[in-house]
Amino acid sequence: MPIFHKTAALKNHFSALSKGDSIGMVPTMGALHLGHISLVKKAFKENNHTIVSIFVNPTQFNNAEDLKKYPKTLDADVALLQKTVSKKIIVFAPSAEEIYNDSIKSNTYDFGPLEKVMEGTFRDGHFDGVGTIVEKLLILAKPNKAYFGEKDYQQLQIIKKLVQLKKIPVQIIGCPIVREENGLAMSSRNERLSSELRTEAAFIYKTLKTAKQKFGTKSAPYIIAWVTEQFQQNKSLQLEYFNITDANNLQPFKRKSKNREYRAFIAVYADDIRLIDNISLN
Ligand code: PAJ
Repeated sequence: MPIFHKTAALKNHFSALSKGDSIGMVPTMGALHLGHISLVKKAFKENNHTIVSIFVNPTQFNNAEDLKKYPKTLDADVALLQKTVSKKIIVFAPSAEEIYNDSIKSNTYDFGPLEKVMEGTFRDGHFDGVGTIVEKLLILAKPNKAYFGEKDYQQLQIIKKLVQLKKIPVQIIGCPIVREENGLAMSSRNERLSSELRTEAAFIYKTLKTAKQKFGTKSAPYIIAWVTEQFQQNKSLQLEYFNITDANNLQPFKRKSKNREYRAFIAVYADDIRLIDNISLN
């Protein structure tokens, strides 16, 4: 399996492609799990060439400790890709210097109202960091399609906006959330949970599913109050936010309409580990 660490080597590899070949790209920060693998499988099925980038992007971390503790497992990641998808996948695993030279800084973007809610308010500068790395990767690899998970639904909307703003000719494909057996959304951060907390964290999805049921008959403020109360009674998990929004613009709404799609979003701390999840309410 080819593993490139240098941008020049990656560009060189793709300069030899035949006309009409399509490239699918899956940007990741590594510590790969079956959620990532589902994106890679889809990219592999839909394109002649699949590239997985593995890069823990420093500019999107608003918390230095979180960055320090982020798992780095390149050998295991490559082995998992080989075993579960194919040896033909190309891995791009650059260093921070290779991507940022000697200036590890974000560009600034105007993502409008999309960045003024949820992750945008609780993680200062996060989406500028995500925009910076995703723009760099898309310009470098020039994929026809790039795959992102609905696990980070707000990020997916931000990236759709990014390619529009920057006129990057790529199709952004959203992929469904893959969950552990107990319902917990798969995440590289789950590896840091104790086994008790990992069991306890199933409460997040359980609560989301009940919120979805209630959405049939109850208002958004009623459900937000109900979820807040559920977490007040839970001693192991601290609720950071729970929000119900229009699924397209991620904004609050006054009255439910039959033709709109809605989504619930949640961020929770288990010890110092931050977990996010979301669910479609339609
Ligand atoms: P990372 O958290 O590694 O996730 C890489 C991709 O995998 C993202 O598109 C994410 O939404 C998707 N993903 C993660 N867990 C998933 C799950 N349980 N089910 C489905 N998809 C899942 O997101 C990032 O990295 C970074 O912000 C990145 C876009 C790579 C920019 O640095």
